[in-house]
Amino acid sequence: MRRAGQVAAEVLLMAGEWVVPGVTTDSIDAQVHDEIVRRGAYPSPLNYRGYPKSVCTSINEVICHGIPDSRALVDGDIVNVDVTVYLSGVHGDTSVTFEVGDVDDHSRLLVRETRTAMYQGIDAVRPGAPVSAIGKAIESHARRHRLGVVREFIGHGVGTEFHSGLQIPHYYDRSHNTPLETGMTFTIEPMLTLGAPALYLWDDQWTAVTADQRRSAQFEHTLLCVGGGAEILTRTPAGEGAAETYARS
Ligand code: MF3
Ligand code: CO
Ligand code: CO
Repeated sequence: MRRAGQVAAEVLLMAGEWVVPGVTTDSIDAQVHDEIVRRGAYPSPLNYRGYPKSVCTSINEVICHGIPDSRALVDGDIVNVDVTVYLSGVHGDTSVTFEVGDVDDHSRLLVRETRTAMYQGIDAVRPGAPVSAIGKAIESHARRHRLGVVREFIGHGVGTEFHSGLQIPHYYDRSHNTPLETGMTFTIEPMLTLGAPALYLWDDQWTAVTADQRRSAQFEHTLLCVGGGAEILTRTPAGEGAAETYARS
């Protein structure tokens, strides 16, 4: 899991360099695919439940699962790039929302506070705490900044399966009282919105967009629950992860 996480982190770090105005999401997909395969891994999204590409690219009002296409990024966009790799029988899953060129103040706040909300969720991880502690921390941070929390997509157990049975909501739900245990591996991947978090799916059955067309951001790490809390697996040995490296104050 550490090695898979590291490969996902390395590729996402590289993707950050490719995200510039004028580049198409298809070309990001092709480069992500090549870098994953070059490292002896497989891009988990490709053919997963019929998903047609190797990475998800979700622009502006797209909440998640955007499918790369021939659209070029333009100055002022925000784009989440979600990389998952399968290496030696396990998956590593991580994503970042990048700013394309100069982005408006509302979007910058959204990106910054979504990233912070993910870390608030990560900080809530400790053995014995209920799963609901994660969503509680994320939702309360979102509220403080008057941001919406998407409910239809949640964090998940990850390991030999891309999505295992373990569910990690990003909102508070006291019925999710499963205690976290040392050795559990799962993602935390909040999607926060500037407007209402209501969504609908495009006809492609993947692309989830906000109903009010306002912007959404997302960050994701794969975590291991350890004695002291959470170990972030989607980082390089030097402690670099895309969420850390591309942070803007
Ligand atoms: N990486 C996404 C997640 O965080 C899942 C993408 S499924 C796909 O869970 F098929 F769209 F790739
Ligand atoms: Co995930
Ligand atoms: Co992901």
